[in-house]
This record gives sequence, C-alpha cells and structure tokens, in this order.
Amino acid sequence: MAMRISVIGCGYLGAVHAASMAELGHEVVGIDVDPAKVESLAAGRAPFFEPGLPELLERTLETGRLRFTTDFADAAGAEVHFLCVGTPQKSGEFAADLQYVDGAFAELLAIVGPGAVIAGKSTVPVGTAERLAARLEEVQPEATLVWNPEFLREGFAVKDTLHPDRLVYGVPDGAEGERATAVLDEVYARILAEGTPRLVMDPSTAQLVKVAANSFLATKISFINAMAELCERTGGDVTSLADAIGLDERIGRKFLNAGLGFGGGCLPKDIRAFMARAGELGADQTLSFLREVDAINTRRRVRMVDLAREVCGGSFLGQRITVLGASFKPNSDDIRDSPALNVAEQLRLQGAMVRVTDPAALANAKSSYPNLVYVEDVEEALTGADLVLILTEWEQYRELDPEKAGELVAQRRVLDGRNAIDPAAWRAAGWTYRALGRR
Ligand code: UGA
Repeated sequence: MAMRISVIGCGYLGAVHAASMAELGHEVVGIDVDPAKVESLAAGRAPFFEPGLPELLERTLETGRLRFTTDFADAAGAEVHFLCVGTPQKSGEFAADLQYVDGAFAELLAIVGPGAVIAGKSTVPVGTAERLAARLEEVQPEATLVWNPEFLREGFAVKDTLHPDRLVYGVPDGAEGERATAVLDEVYARILAEGTPRLVMDPSTAQLVKVAANSFLATKISFINAMAELCERTGGDVTSLADAIGLDERIGRKFLNAGLGFGGGCLPKDIRAFMARAGELGADQTLSFLREVDAINTRRRVRMVDLAREVCGGSFLGQRITVLGASFKPNSDDIRDSPALNVAEQLRLQGAMVRVTDPAALANAKSSYPNLVYVEDVEEALTGADLVLILTEWEQYRELDPEKAGELVAQRRVLDGRNAIDPAAWRAAGWTYRALGRR
C-alpha cells in the first residue's frame, strides 16, 4: 500500500532515501533547508556524484510521487517522517554535533500528527532517540519515534537502499512498538518480500548497531594497515597476507585492503563520536582501542608522505608530483576527510609542485584546498611528472597502461597508495614501483 512519507534532510542519505521510497511506490516529499539543493533535486539533477541516482530521480520524479521543497509545512500529513540530517563532528572536539537533528526535530514537532511515525536514520550518539522520544511524548503522545539506521555506502547508495543486507528497527516496547513495526513493514514491503532480514530491537540497541558496524569496519581497515606497518619492517607483503587470512571465512577478505586508510564523512567522525559518547557514559576505557584505530589510520598518511620523500631522494624541492584521485574513495565526489587530499596538501606544504586530478571531485577539492593545482585530464596531469601517486583507486587509474603513462612522465616512478595496480606490469615497463606494506 502506498504511504505518505516525508524525508527531512536531502544530503547523501536523504536524497537517495527519498527517491528510493518513491521507487517503492510511496508518495514522498523531500525537505531541505538549502534552496539550491532542493532546486537541483526537483529538476532531477543529483547535487553530488552517485552512480544510478540521476536515473532514479528522473524515473521517480516523472511518476509525480516524488517532490522536493524547502517548506517544512509540506511534511504535515505524512504517515512516516524519516529524519536524515547530518551529524558532523563538532569543531575542536570528538563529539557529534546534533544541532541539525535537534533543529529538524523541533520543526517536526510543530507539524507531526497523531498516529505518525518518526523514523530516525541519522547516525547519532546512543541516547539521542530516548531524548527525542521524551520530547515527542510531551507534544504529540499519539505519535511514535523509532530508530531505523541506514548502512548505505557512497558509490553504492541506490543499491544499498533498495536492496540492503538487513533492516534494523529500534522500536518502543509493547503495542506502540508493534504498531510502528507494522508501519515500517508497510514502507519496506517490497524489500522484505525479497527475503531481506529484518531485526526488531529496542531503540538504544538500534542506535548502537550503526556505530558498532562502522567501528568494526574502521577497526578491520586499521588492523590490516597495522600489518602493513609490520610488513614494511620485515620485508613482507600485506596484500598476500590479506589474501591468506581473508580466506578464513571467519575473517573474510572484504575491508582488508591496506593502503592509505579510511576517510569520508562517516567512519572517522563516527568512531570519534562513539569514543566521546562512551566517555559520557563513564565507559571511556571500553573504546580506548578506537583511539589506536584512529592513530594507525592517521599514520598511513604521514607514512605515504615519507615514502614519497624517500623516492624523491630526500627532498620535495623542485619535484613535480602528480596525485591521481582526490575523493575519499572511488565512485564518489565526496572529499570529506579525504586521505588523498590530505597527502597532496602535505606534499605541497613541504615544497613539491603538486598537480591533482580526479574524475568527479575536482570542484569540491578546489573549494576546500584552493592552493593545490588541479588538472581535469589524466594525460595532461601525468605529463612531465617526476613522481606519480595513486591515492584513490578509480577504475581509470587501475587500468592505466604503464607503457603509455611512461611516455608522458619525466621519470617512471609510481607510489601505489591503494595497492590498486599490478607491480609486476609496472616494473616490467621500467617503473620504480613502491607501495605501503609491500616490498
Ligand atoms: C561507510 C560504511 O561502509 C557504510 O556501511 C555506512 O552506512 C556509511 O559509512 C555511513 O555511516 O553512512 P562510506 O563512508 O561510504 O560507508 O565508505 P566505505 O566504503 O566504508 O569506505 C570508507 C573508507 O575506507 C574509504 O576511504 C575507503 O577507501 C577506505 N577503505 C575501505 C580502505 O582503506 N580499505 C578497505 O578495505 C575498505
């Protein structure tokens, strides 16, 4: 049955969620405070790079079931309100900044009707749902707050929303929780019909599930990067190590790609917010290992710069360095906490002449790192380089022909920050190949 849905906040999460809910057959209004974003979405243009989203927007806008507005009043009358606003790191501290969650919730309180379900999707510190539920109880006791975390990955956001690994509902006890569960089942009927596991739990656990999942992923990446540090000391090869331990089903090969480490708008800030929350709960020791996870991750960037300096003979002065990749990972134009740009900027500050190229993220990179030089065309970027760094593993960089690339550069020297290219093929073409965690 088609439902009336509002989606509050139309960033990476909300825009994809709104269009996906319309794809599932519902009547959806997406609401955002940014008029430029709303105008772009309403015209079927995704305001950020996300494969499949433009097509999904076009398809769902055409049906008339999806619209976007800045007017919060348009959320009135919806049976389900999805809260999808951002929870960035507070400046100068580890904790999450909840001003957007609190602001959007205050607006929701003014329009939420009896019987409505407010489903929080933003990643929040555990305890937030309970605090918001208490406010809702005062203002509209006949509405219900649930927590329904989202696990989408940028670059796969449409697939992850329409065909998720699992659905998690954090609902209150008793009849109210049962009714809210039935409402969410109606929203996700088509997804559930595919046999997707659906886990119903209390809101506190549901909030924890999200940060626990991201902390586990971050830990897995830092674990393999710690092994890379040891391989660097012993002359071992971290990719062989990852392949070998990854074949143990209990470990698994996914998220064991060693290299420059994790960045983006989620993993780094989520582990920090989790540590901050644990501290507030009097359990700071419990998550102190995440400090190490964060430290290992940050060291990868420093190590990359050190390796580049070593390859350049001890100094960057006069060295023309080409950085392939600016986004925090391929198939995204997101540069939040991008390891690639962090390294590029350090190289520049230490005297290198740095040129950066990326298939999607240059506009974002320019506004945040205005002092780097940007080149759109990869061949132009490679021309005359003394050293090439692969820092984001876009397909087009993985597929570079070492012979053709070699004809463009001044010196055949490459550093593979993502273990993305074949060392044997590049060495055979006369390149000096170096990588983190490899001989
Ligand atoms: C992450 C989670 O994977 C999603 O499940 C979650 O929903 C999302 O955060 C969120 O909280 O919204 P995302 O930030 O899009 O998704 O990116 P990931 O694919 O997790 O990659 C994060 C970083 O780890 C990237 O910089 C990537 O290059 C790095 N990474 C990933 C590695 O260094 N090694 C790996 O093996 C895998």
